[in-house]
Amino acid sequence: DFDAFDISEELGFLLEEPLTSLPDYYRVWLDLANNLTHLIESHTLRDLVHKMPVLSPDFLIDHRELRLAHLVLGFISMGYVWQEGQHAPAQILPKALALPYWLVSRRLGLPPILTYADSVLANWKLKDPTGDMEIGNMDLIVSFPGGESCRGFFMVSLLVEMAASSGITVKKLFLFLDHVDPTAFHGTLRIFVSGWRDNPMLPRGLLYEGVSNEPILLSGGSAAQSSTIQCFDMLLMNESLFVHLVSVLFIDSAYLGSFLTRMREYMPPAHRQLIETLSVCPSLRDFILSHSSSDLCQAYKSCVSALVDLRNYHLNTVAKYVVVPGNHARAMGCPLRGVGTALNETGTGGSSLMVFLKSVRNTTQKALILER
Ligand code: HEM
Ligand code: ALA
Repeated sequence: DFDAFDISEELGFLLEEPLTSLPDYYRVWLDLANNLTHLIESHTLRDLVHKMPVLSPDFLIDHRELRLAHLVLGFISMGYVWQEGQHAPAQILPKALALPYWLVSRRLGLPPILTYADSVLANWKLKDPTGDMEIGNMDLIVSFPGGESCRGFFMVSLLVEMAASSGITVKKLFLFLDHVDPTAFHGTLRIFVSGWRDNPMLPRGLLYEGVSNEPILLSGGSAAQSSTIQCFDMLLMNESLFVHLVSVLFIDSAYLGSFLTRMREYMPPAHRQLIETLSVCPSLRDFILSHSSSDLCQAYKSCVSALVDLRNYHLNTVAKYVVVPGNHARAMGCPLRGVGTALNETGTGGSSLMVFLKSVRNTTQKALILER
């Protein structure tokens, strides 16, 4: 049932026809979001946020309005926190941002931080609305500094989501990353998707003024929050097998499983529900084993192999975009802006990066062995 899980046959987990504007009352939010790159680069965003009125989110009615509000408040909040770079993150999110953001988040069942569901799933529009949904005719609604590299970074995830729903090979789409320059990604863009949990730059979290008296810990944006890949895992392995494979292989198994499970809290509830439903279904693998059909086994293995290939390709990508520029930044000494060296060993989602990603890859590989 596609509707119950808020997915579409054609677009998978992508939000269909995202809105690009809100009722006029919210104009100040859209004005900031539409000029975000310029406001961050000219160091004026924080001042403008301080002048912002505390708006009520009560005039936002339907799901797509709420998603756009969550998207723009997320981009503005990340810009606000990281405007002055890794050495001077804001410790407090002002009430005019924090309170409506909190209320909108609660209605959507999402955390009040920029998620993959915002920056990728709900952040696209057609340049020519009558034209096709193909890359040349698509653009982001809201962007961070980094120009073409920012567009390319979010767009490649968008293409992976589109491909996954219709079955085109994913690996070729990663080539779009050719448009993402490693230095621009690492030195300019990456800080703006960083969060305030497992992040040495904001070790105690962020205080949401008007919401809570204690700082709140929330992970930054990461494709680890993509429901697509977790659905593939659950279809092919299901939860108990996945957890079992992890525990056979790794001492730190609790961490590995719990990180991916925690990332589900950053997905829209209906999507999370689909993964949880799949995770408790009878195992496809057991079904295949019990039928001892070599055709079925072959089909199963080629699906798992494709996931292993994807994860190997992804590991190379992370080496190119995080590890190499990170080592370079360390050798050069910290640059003033950007994420610098603070997240050399940690992903923006807060995982222990290469160790974590290799463990997930190895776990997937282990599922290839079809023995009882
Ligand atoms: C996880 C980096 C592009 C899919 C991660 C993690 C890092 C990372 C560091 C670990 C989790 C964290 O702490 O954030 C990157 C970089 C990319 C990139 C640097 C490009 C410049 C993509 C794309 C996809 C993707 C395009 C496809 C949608 C995933 C998935 C995970 C993940 C599914 C969870 C781990 C797994 O299931 O294997 N990524 N990523 N990534 N990424 Fe990426
Ligand atoms: N999760 C990606 C990173 O850590 C964006 O750089």
